[in-house]
Amino acid sequence: MRVADALGRPLSNLRVSVTDRCNLRCGYCMPEEEYAWLPRDQILHFEEMSGLVDVFLDLGVDKVRLTGGEPLLRRNLPELVRQLAGKPRLRDLAMTTNGVLLAEHARALKDAGLHRITVSLDTLHPGRFPALTRRPAETHAQVLAGIAAVPAAGFTGTKIDTVAMRGVNDDELADLIEFGRTVPAEVRFIEYMDVGGATRWSMDQVVSRAEILEVLALRYGTIEPLVEPASTAPAERFRLSDGTTFGIIASTTAPFCRSCDRSRLTADGMWYLCLYAVAGVDLRGPLRRGATREELAALITGGWRGRADRGAEERLVARDRGPLMQIGQLKRDPHLEMHTRGG
Ligand code: GTP
Ligand code: 5AD
Ligand code: SF4
Repeated sequence: MRVADALGRPLSNLRVSVTDRCNLRCGYCMPEEEYAWLPRDQILHFEEMSGLVDVFLDLGVDKVRLTGGEPLLRRNLPELVRQLAGKPRLRDLAMTTNGVLLAEHARALKDAGLHRITVSLDTLHPGRFPALTRRPAETHAQVLAGIAAVPAAGFTGTKIDTVAMRGVNDDELADLIEFGRTVPAEVRFIEYMDVGGATRWSMDQVVSRAEILEVLALRYGTIEPLVEPASTAPAERFRLSDGTTFGIIASTTAPFCRSCDRSRLTADGMWYLCLYAVAGVDLRGPLRRGATREELAALITGGWRGRADRGAEERLVARDRGPLMQIGQLKRDPHLEMHTRGG
């Protein structure tokens, strides 16, 4: 069964946040000193996550991405991967990580059946890492070791995500593409977004898709856009004259809401229909009260059919655009945080 939302978009892509905790404090996501964490007893067990994924598979989902916070902070994550990888209807099972713990876990994740890994990397300079993440420069070496461990464990289709920020890392874009080639991994530049949690966001820090292409054209000459008609992925892909490809996720200046087929499950079982949504659907309550698979399917179907969210597009027309959420709001409801609903 396939379910379409109010704008005709299918439910096919589920992002599962396995923990709201993170071991970095990236300025665009977790700039505060203190956070309100989800209560431990409300965090879903692997069996509960796996059971909910089954319901989503019944409704047409065929792509699942594990996120966090930092997913590798969740103990025994390969066990969840094993449970999910055993589901034949799951065409794509991926994970987004900051790479810090990846060197230790890459092989176990591969053995458990994970298909693909995307690693966030914003700088190649260890000296820039502390200002970006509030963690020591040595941790940067762990991230690089983590990235190296990915192909070594046998993964292909690896991606590197870089949030491009003015005056922070916008002089490294070409170097990151060169680095990606050596991994090998496809680099994607992400526009800095004004999502919940990004309380220090301002438009002047955003390096737009147009600027990214301009800078790269100076170094590489002609850049050819790849035409991918059926794609619902957020990244637009491009090719350099030597064949190297890279992506740009222009969520801030050119949002892709019209083709957005993704929803998000938080670690405590709240289901969000948009990255920018202020309210979600509680699936943990019904699940723990013993709802049947059919009852859960009806809840999810009803939610998706009513979905008219175009969060990023609505932000585009906001005047005097500033941070989406104020700190007070985020403290009252941590579900509004990007790190809770899975960056
Ligand atoms: P694949 O296409 O399967 O590789 O996955 P992906 O691109 O969805 O995964 P990834 O986690 O690497 O997402 C890349 C980045 O795109 C995220 O870190 C966000 O910055 C941004 N992004 C992801 N999901 C959304 C979304 O639903 N809306 C918007 N506006 N941006 C998103
Ligand atoms: N803008 C853009 N991307 C963000 N991420 C988190 N916060 C933001 C933001 N404000 C995404 C990035 C990063 C991943 C962990 O989450 O892609 O690599
Ligand atoms: Fe999808 Fe909302 Fe992101 Fe738009 S802003 S792409 S609707 S999650």
